[in-house]
Amino acid sequence: MIKVGYIQFHPRFGEVDSNRIHTIELIRLRADADLLVLPELCTTGYLFEDKTELEQLAEFIPEGKSTKAWIKIAQETNTYLVAGLCEKTKEGKFYNSSVLIGPEGYIDTYRKIHLFNTEKDFFSPGNGPFKIYDIGITKLGMIICFDWAFPELTRILALNGAEIICHPSNLVLSFAQKAMLTRSIENRVYTITANRIGEDIRPSSKISFTGESQVTSPKMDVLVKASVDKEEVGVVEIDPSLAQNKMITANNHVFLDRRVELYHPLLNEIGLEKNKQKK
Ligand code: ACM
Repeated sequence: MIKVGYIQFHPRFGEVDSNRIHTIELIRLRADADLLVLPELCTTGYLFEDKTELEQLAEFIPEGKSTKAWIKIAQETNTYLVAGLCEKTKEGKFYNSSVLIGPEGYIDTYRKIHLFNTEKDFFSPGNGPFKIYDIGITKLGMIICFDWAFPELTRILALNGAEIICHPSNLVLSFAQKAMLTRSIENRVYTITANRIGEDIRPSSKISFTGESQVTSPKMDVLVKASVDKEEVGVVEIDPSLAQNKMITANNHVFLDRRVELYHPLLNEIGLEKNKQKK
């Protein structure tokens, strides 16, 4: 059995240092956890108004202060961390990324593939590959927020052996918490959605986030769930090996029962031209 969970809190826009310090305080509260997931863009806030802000607030990975601080606390608490942050690269690109860090140090970065709404004005989309990580105590994959709406990504991670899907989020719609239950049952995996709370109120725009971070099980149960608007760290004990059982009835295996020979339309752009015209 391992202890996994989410950290739900209210990052203050632009206050990178105090947000980072607060993540460390919250991680320390559950130093007994084996794996903790933090929200998307959890050091910067979400609602950028221009590229100058992005340039000022983004960090290099792994050289940036946030990654370094999380490496230190992961070593101190012997905890694996998945945390969302705004990444800048030496080539001048910006990504909405998450890092995986463990007691052994920095492990890897995932760059959000499916950008939501105006994120497209600021970030480059990630291009995969869809990796899973065997961290000894479990095998995990990462997606970020709106990636929930593209089941192909979670499916590929589960097919590659992920037992837990880590899902740093800044959710604004009301669908994802329910959709992640579906991602759990259709792939027989655990999911950890770490959402933020509160609002980003900026000079020309405003956005509210929906909380309700959760851990879901391969049997489609919600194992622990946070409130809509409170800072909370939710941790639950799970047996990751349950995610290796892909039987949904005595006669149905969610992977082996797939009819992949019928799914080839998924791999071409059927309907794309028609839908582009409608836009
Ligand atoms: C989102 O992808 N942050 C809604």
